[in-house]
Amino acid sequence: MGSQNKGGLLSGGLYEGTRVSKCVFYRVRMGVPPFLLTPLQPDLVHSDMSKEALTLADMPGPSLPGFIYDLFCRKGMSRLHELQLEGKAKYGPMWKASFGPILTVHVAEPTLIEQVLRQEGQHPIRSDLSSWKDYRLSRGHAYGLLTAEGEEWQSIRSMLAKHMLRPKEVEAYGDTLNSVVTDLIGRLEHQRGQSDRKVVADVAHEFYKFGLEGISSVLFESRIGCLQVTVPRETEEFIQAINTMFVMTLVTMAIPKWLQCVIRKPWTKFCQSWDSMFAFAKKHIDQRMKEIEDKLSRGETIEGKYLTYFLSKENLSMKSIYGNITELLLAGVDTVSTLSWSLYELSRHPEVQSRLYQEIQEVLQGRALPSAADVGRMPLMKAVVKEVLRLYPVIPGNARVVADKDILVGGYVIPKKTLITLCHYATSRDPEVFPEPDSFQPERWLTRDESRHPYASIPFGFGKRSCIGRRIAELEVYLALARILCRFEVKPDTEGCVVRPMTRTLLVPDRQIDLQFTDR
Ligand code: HEM
Repeated sequence: MGSQNKGGLLSGGLYEGTRVSKCVFYRVRMGVPPFLLTPLQPDLVHSDMSKEALTLADMPGPSLPGFIYDLFCRKGMSRLHELQLEGKAKYGPMWKASFGPILTVHVAEPTLIEQVLRQEGQHPIRSDLSSWKDYRLSRGHAYGLLTAEGEEWQSIRSMLAKHMLRPKEVEAYGDTLNSVVTDLIGRLEHQRGQSDRKVVADVAHEFYKFGLEGISSVLFESRIGCLQVTVPRETEEFIQAINTMFVMTLVTMAIPKWLQCVIRKPWTKFCQSWDSMFAFAKKHIDQRMKEIEDKLSRGETIEGKYLTYFLSKENLSMKSIYGNITELLLAGVDTVSTLSWSLYELSRHPEVQSRLYQEIQEVLQGRALPSAADVGRMPLMKAVVKEVLRLYPVIPGNARVVADKDILVGGYVIPKKTLITLCHYATSRDPEVFPEPDSFQPERWLTRDESRHPYASIPFGFGKRSCIGRRIAELEVYLALARILCRFEVKPDTEGCVVRPMTRTLLVPDRQIDLQFTDR
């Protein structure tokens, strides 16, 4: 998904000069770390606030020059996820930092993340300082689910949840997604055929196109040719626009508004990228709407299993349909990087790959096409994807803003409207929660570990504002993995070539992943 990170991906924490935190004294005085005082009762929060609570002034964090140094001299923009780990090591589980003009409080402990999310209120807000919203306002576009707030968000959410979160409804996308996977296998066959060693170069780029084709089929029930030998130019342009927009999201947020009048390029590029994304979505929506109208005028009945059709029946304005579908397209594409990371890790762990292959074979019993019900009976498959999302959370840092009240978190009063960055990358790589945190061990998810905090790895978020595409995304990844592994054995192209994650608003591979696809 996409935008939720706008604030949250300021997740670095940018550091210089450690200050001794009063928080340490607080802990000694109270006997227990404040972040262990969970879960918080609302009435407790207020009585605590008046007593011993600390304020933002007491909170440690880097100085402004430290922030600028980290960001621009230490490639901080692409290392925001690592800066979470550095920030936690230097300041403890809570620290404040300024990302350009924005002050944000970082929270890097599962119990603290839980405290924030339990106080998020009726209509949770991810970030109210978003350049994404500014763009929509400047162009007169409607907000979609990612960017809408309050009652407007609630009403869109309820509408979409009917079609995206109910297991039965999602299972119905299985056939459509399977047909896209068939094309993906064909595309992989073609690409490996270009190399003597059966190597598919830059699998992430291939899966990106698969992601776009997959989400388009769910949204429009039509195919847009991303997996053909020659990819349509507008599709490549759309993919490029998403890339540029994500990079420019961070840049525009780091530059104060007054300075943007002088340094205009990032904002201009940001807007141009959004313009072409909206135009792409509009073209496909208009095409489908016209088909619906034509059918109706011929007195034919319409049946559809695609989201644009469902939305068209909901009495939504066209403006709102454009806004929502554009945002769903965006949210649905980039998240398929999970497939690239899964194959990367499986290629480096042949024993896990072989056990997963066995599991798929046993469930399918010779059938070629897995269904949603089949993948439900593949525990190792689920464990592999969970582990991949722990190591490479697509959204390494999410955010929340509580607009209407001050809240107490970890012993600090966080004033209302403060941007709180939830450092998911730091918690999911915490050795205290996940022993050997950097190693790929899907087995850790096969047994129930009561001692592991449930908020330590929450790649789809939690609560009312959590990922609405979760079930579709999981189904898509499971179906693709099952069929790829039945058809090919996947090996690293160059042994030992380590790929690391990089922040580009979302977490992506820092270099090309090349994999060998040999016949089973
Ligand atoms: C592996 C795949 C995916 C991951 C890891 C992921 C992760 C997330 C996360 C962490 C959030 C923010 C949750 C929060 O703030 O608590 C989110 C929100 C969202 N995601 Fe996903 N996502 C994925 C796939 C998708 C797909 C395929 C779609 C579309 C079909 C989608 C649509 C959305 C939307 C619309 C929101 C905003 C929900 C709201 O504000 O109510 N996501 N996603």
